[in-house]
Amino acid sequence: MEAAIRRVLSRGQFILGPEVARFEEEFARFCRVSHGVGLASGTDALELALRGLKIGPGDLVATVSFTFLSTADAIRKVGAQPLFVDIDPATYTMDPAHLELLLKRMPASRRRRIRALLPVHLYGHPCDMGALGRIARREGWPVVEDCAQAHGAEWGSKRVGGFGQIGCFSFYPTKNLGALGDGGMAVTSSGALADRLRMLRFQGRKGKDLQLFDGLNSRLDELQAAILRVKLPSLDGWTRSRRRLAGLYAEGLRSLPVQLPVEAAGARHVYHLFCIQATRREDLRKWLARRGIGTGIHYAIPVHRQPLYRSGESRPLPLPVTERVSRRILSLPLFPEMTAGEVTRVCRAVTEQFSRR
Ligand SMILES: Cc1ncc(COP(=O)(O)O)c(C=O)c1O
Repeated sequence: MEAAIRRVLSRGQFILGPEVARFEEEFARFCRVSHGVGLASGTDALELALRGLKIGPGDLVATVSFTFLSTADAIRKVGAQPLFVDIDPATYTMDPAHLELLLKRMPASRRRRIRALLPVHLYGHPCDMGALGRIARREGWPVVEDCAQAHGAEWGSKRVGGFGQIGCFSFYPTKNLGALGDGGMAVTSSGALADRLRMLRFQGRKGKDLQLFDGLNSRLDELQAAILRVKLPSLDGWTRSRRRLAGLYAEGLRSLPVQLPVEAAGARHVYHLFCIQATRREDLRKWLARRGIGTGIHYAIPVHRQPLYRSGESRPLPLPVTERVSRRILSLPLFPEMTAGEVTRVCRAVTEQFSRR
């Protein structure tokens, strides 16, 4: 990485130079799509994807409430409104059956306002893109995938980012592929959309002087692209390591009354996070913290319960699975360099806490 940084410094070009162009090609190839557009963050990728598809005021976008805020924020930022669909209780991703129910119960006038589908491949598990893709095609909606947590995850023979019109990635440092700062990318197989996204990241400008769209100043910079190019060849190996460690966790926690992550048939999970569901979560968190084991909660407050989204308009139906999971979910430590011994130590500490209940 130091050599890559020196290469950029000696070239002296820091915005939209050869490192970004090469990384866009390399990452698009990794996702098995034709084009990549490097952006300043995953959040911007989502917003610009929606702008690129001309989603705006008055439109509804079907998504999930059980996600990081950015997913819904992007919809709100373009002037549209999210429509929250419940999640599957096993994979924590958008439940196609709940989406169908929502469509059936909605008045036709409101249903017609749905202009796009924005599923989230949460924790590294791909959504059921077979069922969701069929609904989107039937309804004529474009699909924007939130792939921020799922670099390299697969459903059938395709990688995430390649199912919808646009796939949005984050390179935030803790992501499966992380920069040394913020970064993101929108990938697409449409040359026309890629061209529009390139203008949108450049204040909507075509060339230097003419402004055609309402865009952002949002570029992946040369230093981050050079660093990501060094890391990308290791990504498949890191994913294999995450999957192996997840297997060890599953084995170590199998006899406890906790819900473990699953890998749906046809899916390849990349375990961005290893999340369990446990009752008395706070007791378990404190117990682990006292033993030097850090945990996280993704996410304690679902988006529809955040002050900016409380109006109820975004939630025509109750979201019981989202509500229940947000009270019980707990992320255990997982990173590619973690050792089998460290996983065993965490499993032992969790087991001890349960034996005292
Ligand atoms: C599901 C999800 N969507 C979007 C984002 C936004 O990405 P970024 O932090 O790069 O803006 C993140 C990560 O932070 C995320 O986890």
